[in-house]
Amino acid sequence: MNDMKLTERLQLTASKIKRGSFPADIGTDHAYIPIYLVENGICKKVVATDVRKGPIERARKNVRLCGFAESILIKQGYGLSPIAEDEVDCAILAGMGGHLICSILEKGRDKANQIDYFVIQPMQFASVVRKYLYYNGYTIYDESLAKEGAKIYQILSVEHGCDKIDDDIYFEIGKKLIEKKDPLLMDYIEYSMNQIKGIILKLEGCDSENSILRLKECSDKLKKYEEVRRWL
Ligand SMILES: C[S@@+](CC[C@H](N)C(=O)[O-])C[C@H]1O[C@@H](n2cnc3c(N)ncnc32)[C@H](O)[C@@H]1O
Repeated sequence: MNDMKLTERLQLTASKIKRGSFPADIGTDHAYIPIYLVENGICKKVVATDVRKGPIERARKNVRLCGFAESILIKQGYGLSPIAEDEVDCAILAGMGGHLICSILEKGRDKANQIDYFVIQPMQFASVVRKYLYYNGYTIYDESLAKEGAKIYQILSVEHGCDKIDDDIYFEIGKKLIEKKDPLLMDYIEYSMNQIKGIILKLEGCDSENSILRLKECSDKLKKYEEVRRWL
């Protein structure tokens, strides 16, 4: 189990953790990120949490097999609640949906206020996360994309502060991705546009008020994506 090789998504997520940090990996499941961080000498101590018993047992087993039981503290509980005061300086929220990530940050607001930075990797609804961060006193200081097969994942590095957003499209396509011309940005735009086109196709046959509204939203969003694609 030693010399763990992470997938592209997990590798890029782990690479955002600053050397010498004390992270909490929220929703750790297999504990691959904590193991990687300790194994590679990036962090001395990591807290690995999960809300469910199954993942906690899986994490415990993997950590024991790697011989890191002293360095990786496993705790069961919802979101940020298992974290003790001053125990960590950053939190990883990876592999969860955007709505869940927002409710973890919202329910754990007091804990979140004590954490210096966050590495957030939403599986869906990254736009919901960006919007939440924007309206709740966070700034996204870096963003990256990871590709695994046909899928493209978004990784947000976040701290307390505020951002300037002058167009809603930046909730869809992270501003930092555009500014730094992420090498996967074009692929990501194509990927997202195909998803929107798929939704449009499904909605075109429906005539309920909701569907018509949604269709208009999707068509407008598609136009925005096309506009960003032209800028690049
Ligand atoms: C798909 S796994 C992701 C595992 C790992 N973080 C990754 O990125 O590969 C999601 C994990 O989040 C856990 N989870 C779901 N809701 C949670 C919550 N409110 N607090 C903590 N963990 C949660 C689940 O039990 C599950 O183990």
